[in-house]
Amino acid sequence: MEQLLRDALLFLSKNRTANRAAKRYGLRFGASRFVAGETIQTAIDAVRGLNKQGIVATLDHLGEFVFSEEEATESADFCIKTLDSIHQSGVRSNLSLKMTQLGLDISRDLCMSNMRRILDRASQYGNFVRIDMEDYAHNEITLDIFKELRREYGETVGTVIQAYLYRSEADIDDLNRFKPNLRLVKGAYKEPPEVAFPKKEDVDRNFIKIIEKHLLYGNYAAIATHDEHIIHHVKRFVKENHIPNSQFEFQMLYGIRVQLQQELAKEGYTMRVYVPYGNDWYGYFMRRLAERPANVGFVVKSMFKK
Ligand code: FDA
Repeated sequence: MEQLLRDALLFLSKNRTANRAAKRYGLRFGASRFVAGETIQTAIDAVRGLNKQGIVATLDHLGEFVFSEEEATESADFCIKTLDSIHQSGVRSNLSLKMTQLGLDISRDLCMSNMRRILDRASQYGNFVRIDMEDYAHNEITLDIFKELRREYGETVGTVIQAYLYRSEADIDDLNRFKPNLRLVKGAYKEPPEVAFPKKEDVDRNFIKIIEKHLLYGNYAAIATHDEHIIHHVKRFVKENHIPNSQFEFQMLYGIRVQLQQELAKEGYTMRVYVPYGNDWYGYFMRRLAERPANVGFVVKSMFKK
């Protein structure tokens, strides 16, 4: 039953009519629990609040379903504005983005020119940009572009590896020559058994495997999970292997496991929260519900609240 609901939510996350309606009507159905408002100002305020608790952030201007060059350019402009606002406000945050937002499905050249504009600005500010990993159809091209940009921009750019994919362990090995800063996650999209582990226990096992491998290579890891077992395992592993706290950070999503975020920050770990904002919140919100269908109960309640 839970799997059915999960599949339905992931299916709905790609519904374009619902996506358009969501943009028009503003943050609804409790989405504000997971999305830090529609404007950059509300997002910067949210980051300031986190910074006060010793937590750093990565800001993401939400966007999906980009079909024209104009929309892709506008999305890139938003990313640049986000970097400007981070710099001007002095908050401690970097930037996360999705390349389909920047025109990856229209043309590689368009996406690259938008990426270069963003990375030029990030380099100017000494900031960092993380390329989120999307569905499997975009995996290979994302890694290709990452390698090219890593050669051009060095440590200004990083990307993400998803533990649910069979290929990820080999990708960790292949990427090692770039000494990359990688965010490691379980994976959020619905993928077929031809490319991804169908069972949660296999995903969890592979997650631990790639985290350990990447850390032992001496590379920087952003361990992005709300899973306490994995977090405990990592804490123990780094201690046993004398891996310094400066070689990794924990990451969680805005509004999820807030207390655990605060505890990790207090224990002296770098804790970074992914703070999404903007009016294109629908797909992101539906994926969060799919990760934990119990949240649907909370959404239903919020629909009836004034
Ligand atoms: P898991 O799903 O096993 O959850 C462990 C526990 O955490 C649950 O039992 C529950 O208590 C809590 N929890 C998890 N999700 C919750 C939710 N939505 N609401 C409330 N509680 C919840 N994916 C991807 O494919 N590409 C990407 O670029 C990214 N980027 C990214 C950045 C950051 C900072 C994070 C934290 C995650 C991502 N992800 C992602 C999403 C990731 O792949 C994964 O889907 C989610 O993190 C959920 O998996 P967990 O590791 O938290 O474990």
